[in-house]
Amino acid sequence: MAAVVCVTGAGGFIGSWIVKILLARGYAVRGTSRREAADPKNAHLWALDGAAERLTMLQVDLLDRASLRAAFRGCDGVIHTASPMHDNPEEIIEPIIAGTRNVVEAAADAGVRRLVLSSTIGTMYMDPRRDPDAPLGDSSWSDLEYCKSTENWYCYAKTVAEQGAWEAARARGLDLAVVIPVVVLGELLQPSMNTSTLHILKYLTGQTKEYVNESHAYVHVRDAAEAHVRVLEAPGAGGRRYVCAERTLHRGELCRILAGLFPEYPIPTRCKDQVNPLKKGYKFTNQPLKDLGVKFTPVHGYLYEAVKSLQDKGFLPKTSGAKVPERRSCLPQTTSQPPPEIVSKL
Ligand SMILES: NC(=O)c1ccc[n+]([C@@H]2O[C@H](COP(=O)([O-])OP(=O)(O)OC[C@H]3O[C@@H](n4cnc5c(N)ncnc54)[C@H](OP(=O)(O)O)[C@@H]3O)[C@@H](O)[C@H]2O)c1
Repeated sequence: MAAVVCVTGAGGFIGSWIVKILLARGYAVRGTSRREAADPKNAHLWALDGAAERLTMLQVDLLDRASLRAAFRGCDGVIHTASPMHDNPEEIIEPIIAGTRNVVEAAADAGVRRLVLSSTIGTMYMDPRRDPDAPLGDSSWSDLEYCKSTENWYCYAKTVAEQGAWEAARARGLDLAVVIPVVVLGELLQPSMNTSTLHILKYLTGQTKEYVNESHAYVHVRDAAEAHVRVLEAPGAGGRRYVCAERTLHRGELCRILAGLFPEYPIPTRCKDQVNPLKKGYKFTNQPLKDLGVKFTPVHGYLYEAVKSLQDKGFLPKTSGAKVPERRSCLPQTTSQPPPEIVSKL
């Protein structure tokens, strides 16, 4: 019988890719959503290879521990991706902090072998006293007072949630591992827009005339999903935090790469800040994920796939001038209302 893995937020940007990879590897997948099983927002999941035979969707509320317990019962592993991604504290504190705590407790109650949590780089780098030359690692934590005083409520909630998850997992003897994605880009499997994809859409539509003086790290959505699955599978992978990032780019470099691939779009060429030196991004190491076998796709590949996907899904008008990145391995292996943008803290 196939091992069963539960994926919370299964129909989301990263969750959909995790489901796709798990099904391709022969797992039986239980996906959770706040929505009813037939909701069109999750219809794309049923088109995945293996879904008809091995996917089940369950309506689950992160604040209802009994519904989580029922979803996790009989599962070998759980991957918790469900989370709001915006900065309204009234809407996000409970599902992120209490929701994550409930997931840990329910996973422990259900006796799952390992819980993998999707956290965020925003739990690591939001600290004004951080040494900018030291790579972010297991012991890097965002400063909660700084998150609050700067109203970075998403980073605040995710940091408290992750710290609470470690504490609860230790208390319950649960094997926990945490994946820490940066800005995730690439092909959208889901029909709707997601927060991190909005990050580049605004540079393609002409909505943003100048780029900001910021640097961030980026990663391909398929690699981020693969990282979650490898961390779930590898016998000794529990008990640590895995930074999931391919490279750091200044926003100007990001725009230049986009313009090189898609010269037809009105991509900004000028920085808003003409006074200060270019801001450097945080340093990180992705070696622990490489050691688990994750191969990080170069940036041209995931930017290309993200834009093609925006065209295919009707978020961007199609153009004829795209330059296919030379590395064939970068190309896809398979073929409402937008949320507020919080990419500076992802
Ligand atoms: N994308 C990135 O660049 C990025 C970077 C760093 C970390 N992350 C983390 O990675 C995870 C997945 O991100 P994603 O980009 O795949 O996000 P996403 O596309 O927005 O998907 C997240 C899913 O979570 C569920 N959800 C949203 N609000 C919720 C709420 N209030 N209560 C319960 N469930 C809720 C939704 O599923 P239903 O509507 O079906 O319930 C949604 O599809 C999140 O934990 C996020 O914090 C993402």
